[in-house]
Amino acid sequence: MTMTLKIQKKIWLNKNIFGLELSYPGINPLPGQFFQVRVRESLDPFLNRPISIASYRRNRLLLIIKVVGRGTEMLSERNTGESLILLGPFGKGIKPKKKKSLLLAGGIGVAPLFFLAEYLSKMRVSFTFLYGTKTPDDFVLKKNIIMLAKESIFITEQGSRKKGTVVSALQEIDLKDYDVAYACGPKEMLIELQKLNISLPIYAFCEDFLGCGCGLCLGCAIMYKGTYRRVCEDGPVFELGEIDFGK
Ligand SMILES: Cc1cc2nc3c(=O)[nH]c(=O)nc-3n(C[C@H](O)[C@H](O)[C@H](O)COP(=O)(O)OP(=O)(O)OC[C@H]3O[C@@H](n4cnc5c(N)ncnc54)[C@H](O)[C@@H]3O)c2cc1C
Ligand code: FES
Repeated sequence: MTMTLKIQKKIWLNKNIFGLELSYPGINPLPGQFFQVRVRESLDPFLNRPISIASYRRNRLLLIIKVVGRGTEMLSERNTGESLILLGPFGKGIKPKKKKSLLLAGGIGVAPLFFLAEYLSKMRVSFTFLYGTKTPDDFVLKKNIIMLAKESIFITEQGSRKKGTVVSALQEIDLKDYDVAYACGPKEMLIELQKLNISLPIYAFCEDFLGCGCGLCLGCAIMYKGTYRRVCEDGPVFELGEIDFGK
């Protein structure tokens, strides 16, 4: 579905991550689902940019976007009151289980996991939120995460206090306290997590490059359980242990 929505609110969450709040009634999205956001009304840039649902409450959709290149830079210039074209929601997402959960967010991977946190909280599922960034200034939604999670752990690669990565911090957690984990972050983080071969099932939210975003171009194919799957249509959430990263 293509929708033209008015930006109700735009807010900078830190120096290169901003949030857009849009009124979008009548959907019932699952964590991991995403929209293809049209950067401009013209055909340049041609490809829409995939952006996860970071929150959906009382018909209000929140997108959290990190400026990394031309498309996201252009989106960052949009302001309250302007309209934005969205296609979707796309992807199957994941129906979370009623099990003690561990959420592992690296960098902007926090966006879909924040929606998952809201979702689990509504289901009254207890969870720990482990969130890692490069520097303390990179964190977003920290207070909201603390409010939602039973326990929250924040770790930075260059911080003066708790120093490390999501992967190093995970090794200090007693996994016996959990039944399932969900992870979203850079591909390198997912590869390192996979190598740990931990006893919990981990569901990975894959945010690699997309083309069409709607199942047609096969540009997003990954090897999963021995066959090619489309991240946009079949995912973007997959069991981490079954993904072949080809390394
Ligand atoms: C399913 C899905 C959900 C996503 N959700 C979010 C979200 O909620 N918030 C958010 O900020 N981003 C999200 N992303 C990533 C986002 O789509 C890209 O950062 C964006 O498309 C980059 O567009 P650009 O024109 O600014 O950058 P480009 O000019 O295309 O690229 C700039 C730089 O970023 C790198 N890059 C571009 N796209 C990606 C990518 N997908 N993964 C890793 N590196 C990339 C390029 O290699 C290049 O170095 C998601 C991606 C997917 C596939
Ligand atoms: S991006 Fe085109 S099939 Fe997935």
